[in-house]
Amino acid sequence: SKVALAFSGGLDTTVCVPLLKEEYGYDDVLAVTVDVGQPEAEFAEARETADALGLDIHVVDAKAEFASLCFDSVRANATYQGYPLGTALARPVIAEKILEVAEAEDCDAIAHGCTGKGNDQLRFETVWRGSDLEVIAPVRELGLTREWEVDYAEERDLPVEAGNEGTWSIDTNLWSRSVEGGDLEDPSHIPSEDIYEWTKTPSSGEELVDIEFENGYPVGLNGELLDPVDLIENLNALAGAHGVGRTDMLEDRMLGLKVRENYEHPAATVLLTAHEALEQLVFTKTERDFKPQIEQQWAEQAYRGLVFSPLTESLNGYLEASQEKVTGTVTVKLQGGHVRPVARESEYGVYSENAASFNTETVDGIEQADATGVAKYHGFQERLANDVAEKAERE
Ligand code: ARG
Ligand code: SIN
Repeated sequence: SKVALAFSGGLDTTVCVPLLKEEYGYDDVLAVTVDVGQPEAEFAEARETADALGLDIHVVDAKAEFASLCFDSVRANATYQGYPLGTALARPVIAEKILEVAEAEDCDAIAHGCTGKGNDQLRFETVWRGSDLEVIAPVRELGLTREWEVDYAEERDLPVEAGNEGTWSIDTNLWSRSVEGGDLEDPSHIPSEDIYEWTKTPSSGEELVDIEFENGYPVGLNGELLDPVDLIENLNALAGAHGVGRTDMLEDRMLGLKVRENYEHPAATVLLTAHEALEQLVFTKTERDFKPQIEQQWAEQAYRGLVFSPLTESLNGYLEASQEKVTGTVTVKLQGGHVRPVARESEYGVYSENAASFNTETVDGIEQADATGVAKYHGFQERLANDVAEKAERE
């Protein structure tokens, strides 16, 4: 019997291999690694580890699909508790790819190395439990701890890198890098600079960057049209150099546990900021007031690993319509760990310089003096209420 394992070559998934054979009785473990833009070194590690364990490994490229989902999240200005979603967006894509391999390879079961405390177990399983395959979660089901895993790996002489594996649990994709565990578990501990790889310590330099949008999707960087993967990669480097996109937070997970999380997401921070700045220009006030409700629901669904769901589909319908005019260019300034919009342009701007200017008298036939009537009514109820209250007090 055969099991497909979501495999990264890290400690958790490496330890799962002998356990799937010995504890669960599978004679064949198939490693599946999905490329959502992890650094090349991670694939080398996954391949080497699989080799050393005598496993067949499938590496599936899902970068483009993942990048397109990241850009949907830009349309939705999607953040969870203030940070750009990353891991949450990647998991459903990864889960679907692994399931495809598992089914094509006639596996009987499908397994992940997530703990029973986190979100990822839920995000994987909501996809997998729609299939006929048995779902296995060794780390959760056998109650493994990281300490136990480290000892077990040593005892069994499993091929795990000494490096950071025991120190932090790191999850990287094109859109974000998450670092948790180890000394970071103490919320009062100030992280060392070593946890950062994508972002430099903010310095005094500054840089202007132009982002071009078409229908709410980022399409260009500094005047050059780029596909989503290249755009994200280039922007990660540009913005990371200015220390843009660091988050250090306490996050409320789905099961209710709070966890201290550190993230790096330079491109995501820049694109979300720029996109919102463009919406300020092209949306009416009522559109601006309404859209956060859509965004909140979209982000909540995404955090829960439910981007492929009826509600998200419907929300995407609203986004599609509302983003028709989110086309234009935003210039942002990167400086000292921050990104700030400094210029924006769109042919759809709901903005008339002539109308808003202090230097001109009329707006499409409406004169300043016409506002006198509005000014007379403004606050009418409040004045009345104050009068009534005063009178009542006197009596
Ligand atoms: N808590 C974050 C999320 O649920 C990130 C978890 C990433 N995993 C990791 N091992 N660092 O999206
Ligand atoms: C895990 O607990 O396996 C990783 C973190 C998460 O799923 O939230």
